[in-house]
Order: sequence, then C-alpha cells, then structure tokens
Amino acid sequence: MSSDSYDVIVIGSGPGGYVCAIRAAQLGFKVACVEKRATLGGTCLNVGCIPSKALLHASEKYHEAHGLLAQMGVKVKGVELDLPAMMKHKDDVVKSNTQGIEFLFKKNKVDWLKGAGKILGAGKVDVAGKTYTAPRIVIATGSDVVSLPGITIDEKKIVSSTGGLTLDKVPETMVVIGGGVIGLELGSVWSRLGAKVTVVEYLDRIFPGMDLEISKEAQKIFKKQGIDFKLSTKVTSASSSATGVDLTLEPASGGASEKLSADIVLVAVGRRAFTDSLGLKEAGVEMDERGRVKTNGHFETNIKGIYAIGDVIAGPMLAHKAEDEGVVLAEMMAGQSGHIDYNLVPGVVYTWPEVASIGQTEEQLKSASVAYKVGKFPFMANGRARAMGSTEGFVKILADAKTDRVLGCHIVGPEAGTLIAEVAMGMEFGASAEDIARTCHAHPTLEEAVKEAALAVAGRPIHI
Ligand code: NAI
Repeated sequence: MSSDSYDVIVIGSGPGGYVCAIRAAQLGFKVACVEKRATLGGTCLNVGCIPSKALLHASEKYHEAHGLLAQMGVKVKGVELDLPAMMKHKDDVVKSNTQGIEFLFKKNKVDWLKGAGKILGAGKVDVAGKTYTAPRIVIATGSDVVSLPGITIDEKKIVSSTGGLTLDKVPETMVVIGGGVIGLELGSVWSRLGAKVTVVEYLDRIFPGMDLEISKEAQKIFKKQGIDFKLSTKVTSASSSATGVDLTLEPASGGASEKLSADIVLVAVGRRAFTDSLGLKEAGVEMDERGRVKTNGHFETNIKGIYAIGDVIAGPMLAHKAEDEGVVLAEMMAGQSGHIDYNLVPGVVYTWPEVASIGQTEEQLKSASVAYKVGKFPFMANGRARAMGSTEGFVKILADAKTDRVLGCHIVGPEAGTLIAEVAMGMEFGASAEDIARTCHAHPTLEEAVKEAALAVAGRPIHI
C-alpha cells in the first residue's frame, strides 16, 4: 500500500473521529485521521467539554471557599480570584488532553493528516492539495455554534461558548441567550466568579426535552444561587455599544418589547452539523432537512464507502454518543456487529449540583400511554449528602407499572453524572427497580439515594 493510501480515512479528530480511528487501527486497518486544527481532539477537548469542566471545577472551589468551607469549620481568609491562573489551569488541562490523543495516535500508528479534508468522491480525500485514497471514508466533522438572526457573534462582547471560555475579566453583568446545557454550565461559571447572570429562554422552561420536574427543580436551585431567568422570552436584537451590549427582548407570544443591557452576552441556542467545504454536495452525499449527513443503520451514507458519525448526523450532540458510534462503526467495517441503544445515552449537565438523565421522561411515558410507577428520594435524607453540605435535589426512578423494569432515571443533585452510571448499567441489563433496590450499596454514599429511589418505586424506602 502506498504512503498516500489507507484502509480508513477519518475526517475530524473529535471524540467521534479519534475514537473511530484508534478502534479501526486496533482492528488491523491502516488508518489516517484528517484534522485542520493545530491540536487533536475537536470541539470537546479544545473548546468544549474539557475546558468548560476545568472552569466549572475551579469556579466551584472558589465558590466553596466563599461560604461552604467556613460552615464546615474551615476558615479561609483573603480568598482571591486569580483569573489568569484559572485560565492557565484550563489551558494546561486542554493541552494535556489534546497531546494525549497525539500520543494515542502514535501508539496505534494512526497518521495525522494536517489540513482540511475535502471528499473528492468515493474513496478519495484531498488534504492540503494532496489526494489520499481509502475504500472507507468516515465523516466525523462535528458541529459548530449557531447564532440568531441579526445577532453577530464577535467572540469579544457577544460570545459563543468558545469566547465564553476565554473572557479576560469577570463581567459585572452577563445575559445568556438559551437556557440549555451550555447556557447553564457557562452561566454558572461566571455567576460563581461574580457576574450577575440573566438567562433568557424562548420556551417556558429550561433544559427542554429533560424530565420537567427535574428541570423545574434545577431552575429553582440555580435561582437560589443568584441566576435570574426570563422564560418565554425571545431576544430580537443585540448590538455592541461602547459600554457593553444592548438587547431587545420580547415575550415569545408577542407583545411589548423591553430593553436590557449587559457587559457580555453569551449566545447558547444550539449547534448545527458542520459540513462546510467538505465537498459533500459535489460528491453527491445526501443531507437531511436540518443539514445533517443522512446515514443508514450502519452509519453509511447513500455513497458506498462513505460513512458519518457524531454531531454531523442525527441524534444527541454528545461526545459519548459520538465515541460509541466511532467504536461501533469501526467494528462493523471490520465485519463485526455492533449496536447502540440510543434510549440509554445518558445526558449530564455539569453545573453544581449536576443534572443527569437516562431513558424515558415522565412526559414521554405519558404521551406513549405507558403505565409507570415513580420512586423519588431527596438528597436531604441522605447522610453523605448532609456530610458534604449538599442536600439539594433528588433522584427519581421511573419503572414499568407491570414488570417493574426501569424505564428512566432523572437526578438533580451532587455527583448526579456519576450516580446515573449505575442506572445506565442496570438498564443495559434490563434491570427492575427491585434489582437496584436489592443491590448492596455501600454506606455512607450518595449512591444510597439511588437505591432508596428504587425502593420508593415499591413504596418502601427506609429513610423517608
Ligand atoms: P441546547 O439545545 O442545550 O439549548 C439551547 C437552548 O436555547 C434551548 O433551551 C432553546 O429553547 C433555547 N433557544 C433557542 N432559540 C432561542 C432564542 N431565540 N431565544 C432564547 N432561547 C432560545 O443547546 P446548547 O446549550 O447551545 O448546547 C449545544 C449542544 O451541545 C447541545 O446539543 C448540548 O447537548 C451539547 N452540549 C452538551 C454538554 C454536556 O453534555 N454537558 C455541554 C455543552 C454542550
């Protein structure tokens, strides 16, 4: 095989692309991964999950030092924010993660083709003016931020999540457009660091699609933390001025407009599949009505040998969904079989407390006329949560009324993103609420709240 021909060429090195490339290499393929950014890892590692988690964690510590620690008898004097140092912590975390992927590519003999990939047709990819060939091409180009009509993101005063991760000072006021995951995660960071944050959300609730009771509870907690909400409200304009940004808001149902101004506006109204300059139209690759690459159940497009995974195709725009698709696709290309249960892709919001969700919501079960039972347990009644001084929120388990099979679990509370893993595992094995309730859970742990919620499904929790 010549140096410019491969078994598999993956375009994009985010969690979908790099995982697919590594798994394909493990399976014996000669693999290249095309990436135009100066570092590997895509949005997630460079300007998404990883840097935001670094800032979320650091700002939580800062916030704790301002109140919670003293309540526990740890007196800290002269707490100060060193924003450049916090940003350096974030940048160091990003660097070690992106370099980690470079190391893994070397270890697995995956070639990094530097530049933007353009598909020239089945089996051919152009990278920086050179043509590479492979019978299997995987599009893993991810997604990009979107703005609103008439609002231009300048990444200085009107920022997307990318600019929201690199502000050089804490704004006094910040308006977040969109009460979704990014809005609440980054809104929390800057709120904890001292900004007065107002979230403007078009719908009458935050976190659309999530179990309604959980999203209401989360909103109540965020409000107590000092974040303001303007629900059922749309932003009709936002323009930079000498002092900040001037916004016009309107009730979503129409009516009198109001003015609002802020030092910084964060636009977090969703993302779109990224397929710019990929040559898909010329190559005849079909797209769906939302500009995503259309694939069949085997991640193959209408063109034989061209596949797509991750944010660029339908489904939740989540790193772990893309990773799983990358693994399954590599295995299918190697003649193995693979399967993803999209009902069991957990969703986590890394605020404090965290919000986590898996399976069906109550609203979904109601609209499908499924008879279900609910078991709930508050963290207020969990010994470990009390010891941590983090008693807000609850665990809710939904189980089939007849069979007791767990249909969904929704958590707002400390470490919710970690707690949901137990339920994900249980649901993968078709667990009943009774199975979870009868599993021995160590004491004192937050996990006991999951066990108690499972007991509550049968009406017999011990601690409430
Ligand atoms: P999102 O879809 O989570 O939330 C967007 C919000 O904006 C929605 O609540 C929507 O109703 C609202 N909205 C839309 N148009 C509006 C308008 N004109 N005015 C006011 N509100 C409006 O999208 P987000 O937060 O931008 O995140 C993008 C993607 O990245 C999502 O798919 C999300 O799941 C993913 N992500 C996941 C993370 C995680 O798993 N922890 C972290 C960050 C992003």
